[in-house]
Amino acid sequence: MITAATSRARWHALGVRVRIDDSLEGIDWDRVVSDLVRDDFHNGRPALSLRRSFQQSQHVAIARDEDDGDHVVGMARLLSDGVCNAYLLDVWTHSACRNRGVGSSMVKALVAQVPGQHIGLQTGEARAFYVALGFRPQPEFMSKIVGTWLDPGSPGP
Ligand SMILES: CC(C)(COP(=O)(O)OP(=O)(O)OC[C@H]1O[C@@H](n2cnc3c(N)ncnc32)[C@H](O)[C@@H]1OP(=O)(O)O)[C@@H](O)C(=O)NCCC(=O)NCCS
Repeated sequence: MITAATSRARWHALGVRVRIDDSLEGIDWDRVVSDLVRDDFHNGRPALSLRRSFQQSQHVAIARDEDDGDHVVGMARLLSDGVCNAYLLDVWTHSACRNRGVGSSMVKALVAQVPGQHIGLQTGEARAFYVALGFRPQPEFMSKIVGTWLDPGSPGP
C-alpha cells in the first residue's frame, strides 16, 4: 500500500488535504481525461483506455484532494518486470495543485516499490523535476510506435 503520511502534514499546513495511495476505486476517468486535456497533457487515450493503462500497470500512485470530494489531482504509474527493469509513465499533477510536493511524493512512492531495479523514463520539460529526485540523463533514448498509435489492429512495420 502506497502512503504519503509525512507529506500529508505539509499539505494540511497549506490548507489542502491530498491523499496518495494505490487505489483505482471510484475514479471518474472521464473527468481525469477532461483535466488532462485542460492541462494539455492528454495523449489521446479515451477514458476506458486510460483506465486500462493504470489497471494493467504493476504499480500506480493516485493523489486525491480530500477537500474536494476526492477529486483526482495527480497520477503516476510504473511498469516493472519485478526483477531488474521498470519504466515510469503518466506522471501528472493537476495544474491547480502543482508545486506542493504532490508529483515528487507520487514518484517517491512508486520508486520505493522497486528496490534494486533500474527505472527509465522519458521527459522533455520536467528534466529538473526528475534530476532532483535522483534520476540521471542517459546518453540516448530510442523509441518506435508499432503500427498506428493506439490502434492495436494496425500492422507494424
Ligand atoms: C512535472 C509535474 C508532475 C510536477 O508535479 P508537482 O506536483 O508540481 O511537483 P512537486 O510539487 O513535487 O515539485 C517538486 C519540485 O520540482 C519542481 N518542478 C515541478 N515541475 C517542474 C517542471 N516541469 N520542470 C522542472 N522542475 C519542476 C518544483 O519547482 C519543485 O522544486 P522545489 O522542491 O525546489 O520547490 C507537474 O508539473 C506536471 O504534471 N506537469 C505536466 C505533466 C508533465 O510534464 N509530467 C511529466 C512528464 S515526464
